[in-house]
Amino acid sequence: MSEFPIHPVPANFADAHIDAERYAELYRRSLEEPEAFWSEQAEAFLDWLAPWETVCSYDFTTGDASWFSGGKLNVSQNCIDRHLPARAEQAALLWEGDDPADSRTITYAELKDAVCRLANALKARGVGKGDRVCIYMPMIPEAAFAMLACARIGAIHSVVFGGFSPEALKDRIIDADCCALITADEGLRGGKPIPLKANADKALTHCPGVHSCIVVRRTGGDIGWDAERDAWYHELVATAPAECEPEPMDAEDPLFILYTSGSTGKPKGVLHTTGGYLLQAAMSFKYVFDYRDGEVYWCTADVGWVTGHTYIVYGPLANGAISLVFEGVPTYPDAGRCWEVVDKHKVNTFYTAPTAIRALQAVGDEPVKRASRETLRLLGTVGEPINPEAWEWYYRVVGDGRCPVVDTWWQTETGAHMITPLPGATALKPGSASFPFFGVELALLAEDGSEIEGPGAGYLVVKRSWPSQIRSVYGDHQRMVDTYFSHYPGYYFTGDGASRDEDGYYWITGRVDDVLNVSGHRMGTAEVESALVLHDKIAEAAVVGFPHDIKGQGIYCYVTPMQGVEPDEQLKAELIALCVQEIGPIAKPDVIQWAPGLPKTRSGKIMRRILRKIAENELDGLGDTSTLADPAVVDNLVENRPG
Ligand code: WTA
Repeated sequence: MSEFPIHPVPANFADAHIDAERYAELYRRSLEEPEAFWSEQAEAFLDWLAPWETVCSYDFTTGDASWFSGGKLNVSQNCIDRHLPARAEQAALLWEGDDPADSRTITYAELKDAVCRLANALKARGVGKGDRVCIYMPMIPEAAFAMLACARIGAIHSVVFGGFSPEALKDRIIDADCCALITADEGLRGGKPIPLKANADKALTHCPGVHSCIVVRRTGGDIGWDAERDAWYHELVATAPAECEPEPMDAEDPLFILYTSGSTGKPKGVLHTTGGYLLQAAMSFKYVFDYRDGEVYWCTADVGWVTGHTYIVYGPLANGAISLVFEGVPTYPDAGRCWEVVDKHKVNTFYTAPTAIRALQAVGDEPVKRASRETLRLLGTVGEPINPEAWEWYYRVVGDGRCPVVDTWWQTETGAHMITPLPGATALKPGSASFPFFGVELALLAEDGSEIEGPGAGYLVVKRSWPSQIRSVYGDHQRMVDTYFSHYPGYYFTGDGASRDEDGYYWITGRVDDVLNVSGHRMGTAEVESALVLHDKIAEAAVVGFPHDIKGQGIYCYVTPMQGVEPDEQLKAELIALCVQEIGPIAKPDVIQWAPGLPKTRSGKIMRRILRKIAENELDGLGDTSTLADPAVVDNLVENRPG
């Protein structure tokens, strides 16, 4: 599949938690004796307040899944209290600010204090078990405090990425019917302030259900204030009691909602629950990163995405690990920032997205070489397929050829890693996510739904429930069934295509639906289309992805103006602004092509396949256009293709 060499397990991973033999044995057991396997893991990894009655029951027809039901536990207790007093003085979080001069260490004792105080402050403002709390924060330790404070009292958090617009924030707050919002005055990224409170104020005008807005003072910038609704975080926690009993939660009580994009309609609120989610988060963190006590681990994701939930907060803290939280961007003050931070905080494991690797690779080796990186032991990647060239650069230049690269495939819906190498067990093939994690049973399906045996390519599906499986789409369970369990009955449909080679390695090829992956950010083409057609000069729009050297995929928009409208640069700028306003800067179109007409079948369905080919500049592969209502439309698009 790849002309790149295979990298065997290096000698310094010979004593890893899991070696090849153990992987084979445990994987077999996880499928053949799932009850025994998962019971052992749940006991080994988590502290329970009451034992469970049933390990697992699920039904892929109704989408129902339940793990460790009857069991009681609290996530914040598992992430904090049980590590005390042993780790009281050990760092839980290392914070590196946007400005290299800003950093903080939060010990486990301090984490407990901060989380309990905020939990009590939330309670005092009437937030209780089952209530939804929106978190719209920069990458500061208070973001993690907020998540854990919700978990402590049994409130369900819904973190909204700080790069989303007021409009997107509003939609998410309303959909989850949140009663409180935790935010900051401003964020800071690459030296630029992000007006979080101002955005929140705009959103909250339309959210009468939010009775409380708790504001962390990050920059001290000027902000608006609603005396009845708003409260300063530092004032609330200063007077709140420092002890808060963790709420005993059922293993199946909801822990969080996280919005993610699908191929149709508005983003879905993916619902995760308590026990199964935390177990797979904790277990995958320890085994995939081969985490050893005292190591410094750094994941560059934002807490607004699932990677930030599982691999900055819950997975590391459940293991008593040291997790680095980075506020800034990899290129500020310059492209050497990440490696400087690695040296400064003696980082052992570095986990990032292919888009960041490609962006840094494009700048060259010098900024990497400036830092020693001698503490690095392991590298990881997540979020999109990594091209073998970027993989090799990461391995050779960043890791000096001595750090395994774990390419981890998973999704918001899967909650935790699903396909990934284990560094002490897996010989690495650059570009392959390799093998399924424990308990994960995969299949590749052909178009007709039959399972492909041996080497081949098809739709990637999962054949049985796993602990951190999505439990529902908040407020619309049927939507979950329709999206994941109805394409191929009896399977969980991932939306990704993949191939399997002769050695059984999986190679993810990318989405097979209308979901874009732009710099590792998931986005529905339908969301961008809805934003474009809000403009009163626009009649219709169709959006597709196209290969982009750095971002993985770029956003290509075909836009049909209303009759009589002369499209110009001004209109283009307005459309771009509209996407940013409706979704956020991540949704900025890369290409807008004016389309007098869109290729449609006679029944009016837009032929996206053709639009994708034109966007990819694969003009020979347009295929049969004779079934189109008006084949001349395609000629026009090809002739007027920009660039
Ligand atoms: C893609 C991010 C290839 C995939 C954790 C998936 C990947 C979507 C990989 C989920 C990988 C994630 N190799 N593709 N290692 N990891 N993807 O929900 O298309 O933001 O379906 O979760 O990202 O994106 P999400």
